[in-house]
Amino acid sequence: MSVTRSESHVSEELRAPEISDFSPFPKSWYRLCASRDIDRTPFARTVFNRRFVGYRNSNREAVVMDATCRHLGADLGLGKVVGSCIECPFHGWKYGSDGRCREVPGATSAPDFAVQQVFPCQERHGSVYFFNGLEPTFPLPFFIDEVPQNYRSIDPRGFTASCSWYMVNAHAFDVQHFLSVHGRRLLEPLQVDTPSPFARRSSYLAEVLGEKYSDRFLRWVINDRVRITLTIWGGTFAVVTGDFGQRKSRFFVISEPLSDGHTRCEVIVFTPRISSRIVGPVAERLMLHIRRWLTTVYLRDEHSGLGSPRYNPLSLTENDHEMVKYFQWAAELNSIQGDQRCKKH
Ligand code: FES
Ligand SMILES: [Fe+2]
Repeated sequence: MSVTRSESHVSEELRAPEISDFSPFPKSWYRLCASRDIDRTPFARTVFNRRFVGYRNSNREAVVMDATCRHLGADLGLGKVVGSCIECPFHGWKYGSDGRCREVPGATSAPDFAVQQVFPCQERHGSVYFFNGLEPTFPLPFFIDEVPQNYRSIDPRGFTASCSWYMVNAHAFDVQHFLSVHGRRLLEPLQVDTPSPFARRSSYLAEVLGEKYSDRFLRWVINDRVRITLTIWGGTFAVVTGDFGQRKSRFFVISEPLSDGHTRCEVIVFTPRISSRIVGPVAERLMLHIRRWLTTVYLRDEHSGLGSPRYNPLSLTENDHEMVKYFQWAAELNSIQGDQRCKKH
């Protein structure tokens, strides 16, 4: 039986947004590719129905732009890099790092409309990231109070969650599921704050009660208590720290919306550079691989074990109030950033 708005289980203050209030493709940072993917040739891929291309200009700086040529729509990712320009494979129009067409073969000048949209981009830890908008509304996230240069990373691993990006990231505020899904019993109330208008953070101290092999391993070898901090930037970019006392785990989960309503999640794990000096580079790399495997499997299994959860603003209850506040915040970001409205789930 469906629930109507008048029968909603939350107070008016906790009224959850409509699906159409969320952006289908939020203004946030996303990972385009590995840095090495653009060393020799352009690299293009589709993110939520839009084709993005990355290449290096003559200064070796990464450039990310719309890959659909403004002339007749050919894919710039199939073109080539010439000096600081990317050349379209169809009629050879050459676009500079600012997106402006520099040369049209056989013509004295380029038409005014020959400008590709260029996206803010940044390289870090061997990845090329871009911001889905004209100007970044927040810097490329990292662990708060930590310096990126002090950390190492390896290529991400990913999985697809059968739900929307906002359902994926609502996990950070879903108090009920910490025990039922993760086997973590909260030892204190969930703390939630907004360290930036574009970041919402949750933090909790929990006892590890789960019976999965990974939980038993944590209890026996590392610690039976953990403080988890999750900071969700732009609604989609999760920066996660697990503090087990002597050991810490640090990773990103970048949610990339797919056009079928599902979400591609990229997991990027980090380790402090200092560990290389302590255990040596080979052992450090091995540890990064193990961390990546454990983290990705843990998250992938969680999502595959839930089927296809669906957002319903009318079926949330008072127990879900932190989730509702996250949904309100994520939908509000959409209007703050002037994004287009969600057409479908
Ligand atoms: S389609 Fe790109 S130059 Fe014609
Ligand atoms: Fe979860």
